[in-house]
Amino acid sequence: MYENFDELREAALACRNCKLAETRRNVVFGAGNPAAKLMFIGEGPGENEDLQGEPFVGRGGQLLDRMLSHVGLSRERDVYIANMVKCRPPKNRDPERDELDACMGWLRNQVRLIRPKIIVCLGRVAGCALIDPGFKVTRQHGEFFEKNGTVMMGTFHPAALLRNPANTPGALDDFVRLREKYDELT
Ligand code: URA
Repeated sequence: MYENFDELREAALACRNCKLAETRRNVVFGAGNPAAKLMFIGEGPGENEDLQGEPFVGRGGQLLDRMLSHVGLSRERDVYIANMVKCRPPKNRDPERDELDACMGWLRNQVRLIRPKIIVCLGRVAGCALIDPGFKVTRQHGEFFEKNGTVMMGTFHPAALLRNPANTPGALDDFVRLREKYDELT
């Protein structure tokens, strides 16, 4: 049982629990404020994240930062950002079942130590793993769910918004709702 965040991080950086360890350059553990009340969970590192060891540092990450600042939140101060899998799947394919399962313990421990009031799932992979296996982003984005005392919400993955900007207004509405919920709970 990891007692603190640094211990957990140290152990995760040496993880070889699945085949992604063979091809990754860096384990992307997470970033932001571990004392934050709001946590964002993406899918897995892309090329830039794999190179830099930080989540959401590419164009999708810049978009995420802009959406956060649209509602007065900052990555460093107000949120903690992690991914379902901590190592890049080759050619950015979806993480496979065994990889998600092998990595789940790290995320569970992150959530246990951070104790966020709200978890936002970015995209289908996180939404299906953490909210409901049948979660549909296009239909259920912006809805609040409660799981074990934590409020959960799913919204569009920033990379999906870059591919299909028509969903950006919907995503911005989700962030406004999120900010209201955040103010209510903190
Ligand atoms: N996409 C994700 O889901 N996570 C990242 O960290 C980067 C891109």
